[in-house]
Amino acid sequence: MSTETSEKNTARGLFSGHIGFILAVAGSAVGLGNIWRFPYLTAKYGGGIFLLVYLILMLTFGFALIAAETALGRKTRLSPIGAFRAFSGFRHNKFLMTGGFINAVVPMIILPYYCLIGGWIIKFLFEYLCGNSAAMAESSFFGGFISSACEPIIWHLIFLGFTAFIILRGVEGGVEKASRIMMPILLILAVFVSIYSMTRPGAGAGIAYYLVPDFSKFSIMTVVAACGQLFFSLSIGMGILITYGSYMRKNVDIEAATGRIELVDTFVALLAGFMIIPAVFVFSGGSAEALNAGAGLMFITLPKVFESMGWGGFIGFAFFLMVFFAALTSNVSIMETCVSTLSDELHLSRRTATMIMFGEAIVLGVPCSLGFGPLDFISLGGMSILDMMDFLAGSMLCPFAALLTCLLIGRVIGVDVVANEIKQSSPFKREGVFRACIRTFGPIILLIVSVSSMAAALGFIKI
Ligand code: PFF
Repeated sequence: MSTETSEKNTARGLFSGHIGFILAVAGSAVGLGNIWRFPYLTAKYGGGIFLLVYLILMLTFGFALIAAETALGRKTRLSPIGAFRAFSGFRHNKFLMTGGFINAVVPMIILPYYCLIGGWIIKFLFEYLCGNSAAMAESSFFGGFISSACEPIIWHLIFLGFTAFIILRGVEGGVEKASRIMMPILLILAVFVSIYSMTRPGAGAGIAYYLVPDFSKFSIMTVVAACGQLFFSLSIGMGILITYGSYMRKNVDIEAATGRIELVDTFVALLAGFMIIPAVFVFSGGSAEALNAGAGLMFITLPKVFESMGWGGFIGFAFFLMVFFAALTSNVSIMETCVSTLSDELHLSRRTATMIMFGEAIVLGVPCSLGFGPLDFISLGGMSILDMMDFLAGSMLCPFAALLTCLLIGRVIGVDVVANEIKQSSPFKREGVFRACIRTFGPIILLIVSVSSMAAALGFIKI
């Protein structure tokens, strides 16, 4: 049977082609992970050294795992749980089967706090619209907002409501069209703001901190955090790529598509770093406390940058509007994965599955929000409830899921089978890297990362 005929016979919908796949994955990949999470982790984990580790991991594991997950999806035409079950089930390997389960659970942990940060973005948009840019540039503004008991929860519900509405109405129309227009504008605006930020007096120290690796700041936690960021940002170990791969045509070049996705995702993250890290030095002298601001870094620093621009109210509004769209497209992909897993596995209707996820995002999102106010006494190694959920998903479960993916491909399915799937549509120039990462380096490093993150969570290593 020719590829075309067999593709016509698949019951699954298929992406229209190369561009369709890249846009769908890039829409999911580029989001708060790049603009909010990457700069604060880079600032916290030593600047240039974190960047260096991140880039190395991205070109090796990032590449191998995106290609592997996509090829696994295309080969099996199944969702993550089904794909893992299909192969590990026939060897009765329960340990490997948990890989599919973890892939499915990670987006369910991310959804509640992603909605919370999305809510913060809408709050900032609203304040810019009301002309409050000067008040927002005060250092105490953000802290005062997130520590209040009710307000952040209301914004969280609004962001969640937008997402659920889109999931129920279908994705293709409005959001996708809007984000195709918004994403290029976001990039132009980000280039503009980063140039402004880098040319302020005193920014040089920040640029050096961001770009020059200081090896004395290296620790195993640098690798754990960079690995977690890689998975979060590229949506690896979360079932999304397996699912999207299952909708991909056989003639789409997986290797080229992977390269483009890595490029776009890293470019946006690097730009966000250039906007935020030099500004931390300009406005707060780069003190350890300022660099460790964590989840709030973007919300504390950017309003100061915008305000110092003179007509910052307008730029601030435009910027947060673009970030809102980037966050919304990613959040739709997170919720969509959860909904399709629930409806496939529990045979629920789309509407019921959406309502269940809506409830889950509230039940787990509320404590996350209160963790900055009434529940701020709950903390682990200095982490808030939001940080803990983020650490659990990004730094503990994703690397473990990726480890199981490497074992599934390397030991059960066979690297050749997956490599051949990729070769159907490309010469596979990076095959050597792919094989080494999936068979040898991947399992070793991912095991070290999984054990270290566990040790850090138990308090044996400083986070
Ligand atoms: N990769 C997205 C970002 O960088 O914001 C976040 C994300 C998307 C996480 C999809 C999880 C996911 F399943």
